[in-house]
Amino acid sequence: MARQKTYYVCDACGAQAPRWNGQCNECGAWNTMVETRPVMARPGASAAPKGGYAGQISTAQLAEVRTEVSTARTVTGLGEFDRVLGGGLVAGSVSLIGGDPGIGKSTLLLQVMAALAGQLSVLYVTGEESLNQVALRAERLGLAKSPISLAAETRIEAVLELIAREKPAVLVIDSIQTIYTESLSSAPGSVSQLRESTALLVRHAKQTGTTVLLVGHVTKQGAIAGPRVLEHMVDTVLYFENDAGSRFRAIRAVKNRFGAANELGVFAMTEQGLKEVRNPSAIFLARDTEPSPGSVVSVLREGTRPLLIEVQALVDESPLSNPRRVAVGCDPNRLGMLLAVLHRHGGHALYGHDVFVNVVGGLKVAETGLDLAIALALVSSLTDRALPQELVAFGEIGLSGEVRPVYGGEERLAEAAKQGFKRAIVPSANKPRGKGPQGIEVVPVRTLTEALNAL
Ligand code: TYD
Ligand code: MG
Repeated sequence: MARQKTYYVCDACGAQAPRWNGQCNECGAWNTMVETRPVMARPGASAAPKGGYAGQISTAQLAEVRTEVSTARTVTGLGEFDRVLGGGLVAGSVSLIGGDPGIGKSTLLLQVMAALAGQLSVLYVTGEESLNQVALRAERLGLAKSPISLAAETRIEAVLELIAREKPAVLVIDSIQTIYTESLSSAPGSVSQLRESTALLVRHAKQTGTTVLLVGHVTKQGAIAGPRVLEHMVDTVLYFENDAGSRFRAIRAVKNRFGAANELGVFAMTEQGLKEVRNPSAIFLARDTEPSPGSVVSVLREGTRPLLIEVQALVDESPLSNPRRVAVGCDPNRLGMLLAVLHRHGGHALYGHDVFVNVVGGLKVAETGLDLAIALALVSSLTDRALPQELVAFGEIGLSGEVRPVYGGEERLAEAAKQGFKRAIVPSANKPRGKGPQGIEVVPVRTLTEALNAL
C-alpha cells in the first residue's frame, strides 16, 4: 500500500507545515505539531454543487428514530463491571478502559471476555503481550478453556481485515497505544496514530454493531499521547482510579453515553484475578474499634449508589513559616477554602498548623458533600477529641459558613443506617420529610457553627 503524503498541523493555532518542527513557526508554541493525513475525496463523489447537498440528505423526526439498537445490552456477569457500564455492554459502542500500567486492565478484560465467550463470539487482539503470555494469564485465572479467539497484531489495517473476516461480536484491543496505521509515519502511541486508529475502529463499530473495548495506558504526565486525547471519540470512558499499591481496584465511568457518569465499580485483586466487591462501604470503613481524633465517616453518592467513606485529618503545629496543606483524595483548593471558613465562621484558626487530609481507601472524591466531614475531622484533630464512632456527616459548606443540601439525602441516610450508624449530622434541607430511616437519629444543621455545637 503506497504511503499517502502527510503534513503537520499545529494543535494550538492550526498552522500547516510540510515537515515536523519542535516549535510552531506561526504561534511559537512548543511540541504542538501533529502529523495529519489529507482527507481523500470519495471516488465518484463530484465537487459540491451550488447550494450544497440539501437535495441528497434527508432529516428524520426525533420521535420516529428507533432506539432499540442503542439499548440492547449484553450483561457480562461481572456485576460491578456491568454497573459501571450502566447495565452491560451496548452493541456498537466503543469503550476506553484506562489506568496505570499493572493495575489490572488486561486481567479485567480477559475475565470479561471469558464470561461473554459462551454467548457471543469474542476476539482479543493483543499488541503488548505474546499469545503465550495471554494464555499464561488465562491459566492463572482458571479460564484457559474459554472459547476466546486471540490474535497478536499491531497494524490496524491487518486488524480491520481480520475483524471483517471473523466478525466478532465483541473486540478487545490491548492496548490502543501499540496499534499503528501504515498511512502515518509517526511512531505507534503518538497522538496522530492514536486518533487515526481509534477513528477507524469507531467507524467499524458503528457500521457493524461490534462492541469494542480499548485498553489505554495513562502516561505519568497524563495528557500527551495518553487516553485523554481519545475521550471525545469513544462512547464510554472507564478509569481505574486508585494506585496499584492497594488491593482494591475502583473503576469509575468518567464518561458514559449509555449510563450514569461517575458510577463506581469496586474489585479486589486476588490470586485468581479480580473479584467483585459487593458491599464496598464495608471495605472503605474497616476501622479501629477505638474512636480516634480526626476521623469522621461521610456518605457519598457515587453514580447511582451511596457509599460510606472515612475521612481522616491531622492538624499539627507547624515549625514552618509557610505551613503545609496536603489533601489526598480530595481537592486541595477546597481544603484551603474550608480552612478559611473554619477560621472566619467556626472560630478555629489553623494558619499556624500543618494540615493533612486523607480519604481512606485510595478513592478520589470530587463531591462537595464531603465538606462537612472534612471540617469536623479538622476540628476533631485540632482539639484532640474523638468523635463517636456511630456518627456520620455529609453536606456542602458555603463561604458564609452555611451548610448546603446535597443530592440524594434520604438514600445516604438509609445507607448509613444500614451500615449500623446511629447519628447523622446533615444539612437541614436534607432532613427527611417523613420519619426517615429506622435506627438513625438525624441532626439537621443550617450552619457550620450549629454543626460544631451539635458535637
Ligand atoms: P495486568 O492485568 O497485566 O495489568 P495491566 O494490563 O493493567 O497492565 O495485571 C496487573 C497485576 O495484577 C500484575 O502485577 C499481576 C497482578 N495479578 C494478580 O495479582 N492476580 C492475578 O490473578 C493476575 C492475573 C494478575
Ligand atoms: Mg496489560
